[in-house]
Amino acid sequence: MAQIRIRNTNERIENEADVKAFLDQQEVLYEHWDMSKLPAELHDKFVLSDDEKQQVLNTFDSEIKDLASRRGYQIWDLITLSDATPNLDDLLQKFEAVHTHSEDEIRAITAGKGIFIIKGAGDTGYFDVELEAGDVISVPESKPHFFTLMENRKIVAVRLFIEKEGWVASPYDDPEFVKA
Ligand SMILES: [Fe+2]
Repeated sequence: MAQIRIRNTNERIENEADVKAFLDQQEVLYEHWDMSKLPAELHDKFVLSDDEKQQVLNTFDSEIKDLASRRGYQIWDLITLSDATPNLDDLLQKFEAVHTHSEDEIRAITAGKGIFIIKGAGDTGYFDVELEAGDVISVPESKPHFFTLMENRKIVAVRLFIEKEGWVASPYDDPEFVKA
């Protein structure tokens, strides 16, 4: 279940209904997939063969198709990040820059953890959304954000795209953003 931290006030939102209400207010899609569908050996595995990646995608085929039909995604894939990923530290350093996209950024976490840092509407300022397996989140197009790993430094996630070629990050230079 996702948890929120509002950076300006250090307020945490941990109750499921409150998390959902907060994210609704910020126009951030937040849903769940049932992780009990995933074979046990894939719950805590972060280096996956192509067959295992396909197995994860097949397991959640109906959830993926449902999102695609509701929201127009055309293609999807599975990403894995862990200490086995070459140059993980360099990658994480690159991740930590606020940016926007011309389409939404949707991730469904199937193992591990991750965190989206998102610029809230109005006076909210930046907030963190801490995600774990089963959480599905979509940051709307043009909303400043970045994604990074949490202290366990590992994640497996499904990504869906409307146009993979069109999905580029535009830097968003924001004096209001302060690194945590
Ligand atoms: Fe992004």
